[in-house]
Amino acid sequence: MALLPILRYPDPRLRKVAAKVARVDEGIRKLINDMAETMYMAPGVGLAATQVDVHKRVIVIDVSDTRDALNVLINPAIVESSGIADCEEGCLSLPGIYERVRRAQRVKVRALDRDGGERTVDAEGLLAVCIQHEMDHLEGRVFVEYLSRLKQSRIVAKLKKQDRKAG
Ligand code: NI
Repeated sequence: MALLPILRYPDPRLRKVAAKVARVDEGIRKLINDMAETMYMAPGVGLAATQVDVHKRVIVIDVSDTRDALNVLINPAIVESSGIADCEEGCLSLPGIYERVRRAQRVKVRALDRDGGERTVDAEGLLAVCIQHEMDHLEGRVFVEYLSRLKQSRIVAKLKKQDRKAG
């Protein structure tokens, strides 16, 4: 396994739309292992392939306290959604930035698993929010883009300041 570098907002590569995975093969399984390791090390609760500059429809998520409930979603599609969740979100591509975003409270998602089998996930609360956040990445969308232009430019300025401090 290997740790993968995570793109930082507003890197233009975060805007790329990911392509469907045609076949779940060893290459995809290696990507999943590397993404999971990168997410756990960060640490974070979710990571989309887009964030590691791989533009394929692959997501890893673990919202458990025990960090042992990895969800792998390949080619995810929301087939049902309901309710409203208004959660504070963060993102490994925007370290230190937390903002409230409105999402569906509950989603039903169809996806492939790491063996290429079809699965349906009924998610609510934090898991549902996380799935929607990561699926946005696959469309080239980052959560702060739901905020006002003014807020977005303040966030970009804050991240640039962080970068300068880090040298
Ligand atoms: Ni994110």
